[in-house]
Amino acid sequence: MSATNWKQYFDKKAETHGASVQTSDYFNEESFFRQRDNTLRWLGAVSGKTVLDAGCGVGAFSEPLVRGNVVTGVDFSEKSLAYAAKRGLRTSSADLTALPFADGHFDVVLCIGVIQLIPNYKPVLRELARVTKPRGTLLVQTLNRGSVQRKLLGLVEKTKKFDTMYAMKDMARDFAELGLTDIAFLNQYHPFKFTTSGRSAGIVPHLLSTSFAIKGCKR
Ligand SMILES: C[S@@+](CC[C@H](N)C(=O)[O-])C[C@H]1O[C@@H](n2cnc3c(N)ncnc32)[C@H](O)[C@@H]1O
Repeated sequence: MSATNWKQYFDKKAETHGASVQTSDYFNEESFFRQRDNTLRWLGAVSGKTVLDAGCGVGAFSEPLVRGNVVTGVDFSEKSLAYAAKRGLRTSSADLTALPFADGHFDVVLCIGVIQLIPNYKPVLRELARVTKPRGTLLVQTLNRGSVQRKLLGLVEKTKKFDTMYAMKDMARDFAELGLTDIAFLNQYHPFKFTTSGRSAGIVPHLLSTSFAIKGCKR
């Protein structure tokens, strides 16, 4: 789908599902909260920081960070952003390919479940890295292209809504090219509850995890 169609898609979702995480296309609340809590735990304590939630939707992912930090949410779905504002995020309507912030503005930049919607993701990744402060953290979460489960699902799925998936090793290379160091992965194995984490794209996470988060520290 084109960016315009995704904007309309998520605006329509917000009209139907309101502040619920269903607006952001999560399978159900349980899988959303599990993923959010695992990811924020892995990110580590964040306090007194400037945080960007890029593609924040209704703001439910970064809501726990609102207390004690200044959290800004950016999205092109203005109807979703209205709910993010109610959750305490400062909101800004923009496309992630052109973020309206100065270089190095944020201590922590999160981009959760967004780049699978964007076939040409490199300009977005560049923008995310640009607005991350030196020694700040960039964390991106997305679908794992290596996943055997997703490949099997792809054989029977009629709609090809999320065409774009990512290989962990490619994303690690992109992060390194953008000046991010101390790269690490968190892997999730939907519908199972456990996660694994590590510094490299090992064979088990590569083949069996359904999604991964990658984080790095800006030089
Ligand atoms: C699957 S939802 C995830 C929302 C949120 N990150 C979460 O995990 O709850 C993807 C969000 O990205 C937004 N989005 C997609 N492409 C975008 C772009 N190019 N610029 C701004 N927002 C975008 C959509 O409007 C939608 O709200």
